[in-house]
Amino acid sequence: MTLRLFRISGLWILQALLLAGSACARDSDVLHRPPALASAPQDKYGDLVRMGHAIVTDTLGKAGRYSGNRLSCSNCHLDAGRKPGAAPLWAAFVAYPAWRTKTDRVDTFDERVQQCFRYSLNGIPPAYGSIELTAIAAYAHFLARGLPVGPDSKGRGFPLLGKTGLDPNRDRGRVVYRQHCQNCHGEDGGGLPNMPPLWGFGSYNKGAGMANVATAATFIKANMPLGNPVLSDQQALDVAAYIDAQVRPPDPRRGLLSIFR
Ligand code: HEC
Ligand code: HEC
Repeated sequence: MTLRLFRISGLWILQALLLAGSACARDSDVLHRPPALASAPQDKYGDLVRMGHAIVTDTLGKAGRYSGNRLSCSNCHLDAGRKPGAAPLWAAFVAYPAWRTKTDRVDTFDERVQQCFRYSLNGIPPAYGSIELTAIAAYAHFLARGLPVGPDSKGRGFPLLGKTGLDPNRDRGRVVYRQHCQNCHGEDGGGLPNMPPLWGFGSYNKGAGMANVATAATFIKANMPLGNPVLSDQQALDVAAYIDAQVRPPDPRRGLLSIFR
């Protein structure tokens, strides 16, 4: 009996040591710094990486056959997918395969990218093995160089908001929009030259992550107005609710009527 107890606690100690060891090795508190594009090698891998970068920053120009709107990946995955707190592609790359409740299955990185084509770009998912998906994966793989595999990299996704105690309100959101957003994104939300649309038929569809008020609010709070993100959590929620109330392409899973959801 005593021997058994001893053995069990011995195991615990071993486990604790292993856990501590892996925590040190992972070190998810350290912010990953993706390598500069210029350091990509001059070989086939480097060519794919550069092509992936070109698609991410000019999606309509470089992957137009799959794109259904005017957006580029980098309009949302800022700084060409490098910026922490703007769903950086390096943190995503090491986080898949992962279970997703949106699809009810374990999705690979390529499948996750296909979903952004379908919803965020309101387009057609490039086939598995297509040059576009292969290049985007190579680019994300390059950005993730040196980053340990796992779902918890610091800077992944968008930083969470606190509880504000108030529901998002689109009327208050309209005021925020006029004051903080309209100059760049336009009075009608349709964007301006070099400024992406937030709603209308040139924007993401109703099935996109950005079409979820809570998700859009976290992106906006951390990243908008571009270069000067000054909104309070409540203002971010309100303006997200205002944007969400505008018209945009339907969710392809639900058909045309979802425009009026
Ligand atoms: C309209 C904005 C928008 C555009 C354009 C967009 N995405 Fe996304 N993407 C998002 C949002 C929002 C999420 C997070 C969704 C969530 O948390 O539910 C996301 C998530 C992802 C993820 C998973 C991130 C993670 O950490 O799990 C990948 C990979 C990704 N997008 C790749 C792309 C690629 C590649 C493109 C271009 C082909 C693209 N996205 C275009 C908004 C966008
Ligand atoms: C100084 C100009 C500027 C202001 C002000 C600004 N944005 Fe943006 N916004 C941009 C640019 C430029 C991008 C694309 C970033 C890129 O491609 O690097 C963007 C991207 C976005 C996106 C993701 C892409 C899309 O079109 O859906 C959203 C959502 C967004 N902004 C919301 C807002 C909201 C809400 C406000 C006000 C709180 C705001 N922005 C204020 C310039 C601005």
